[in-house]
Amino acid sequence: MGKYNLNINGKQQTVDCDADMPLLWILREKLGITGTKFGCGIAMCGACTVHLNGQPTRSCQLPVFQIGKSTITTIEGIAPSENKLHPVQEAWQAHQVPQCGYCQSGQIMTAVAFLKNNPKPKMEEISAAMSGNLCRCGTYDRINQAVKHASDLLTK
Ligand code: FES
Ligand code: FES
Repeated sequence: MGKYNLNINGKQQTVDCDADMPLLWILREKLGITGTKFGCGIAMCGACTVHLNGQPTRSCQLPVFQIGKSTITTIEGIAPSENKLHPVQEAWQAHQVPQCGYCQSGQIMTAVAFLKNNPKPKMEEISAAMSGNLCRCGTYDRINQAVKHASDLLTK
């Protein structure tokens, strides 16, 4: 056991846990930040995607001892304010993307990071970038349309 200071959504949080506890467990079980979901637990589905220094990262396979001073952003931290959604979230609403919703915070986190690096993507690039995030409800078409829409919102 040890104490770890983590920067999560712009706030310093201290947790007491084993060095190999994955970030996903820290978020959900230690801190009650539950927007990030547990799907496979083996870095295959993307449901647990957060940003580590802005890069999409699978939190189910990230032990706390590897985080150091990196900044962590979860789905709870992407909106610019309490009353305003992130443009990717707006696009998700406009296209009514979620079905059961389980995979969607991971999908959105992947999309937000992708659009930062590639603000005007072609449809093939969107589909390639999003293909590592699984959706058992098959919302892939709506996801791709929403990413395109978000790109328009972010670059207009
Ligand atoms: S729960 Fe982490 S990738 Fe599936
Ligand atoms: S919306 Fe159900 S798993 Fe994706």
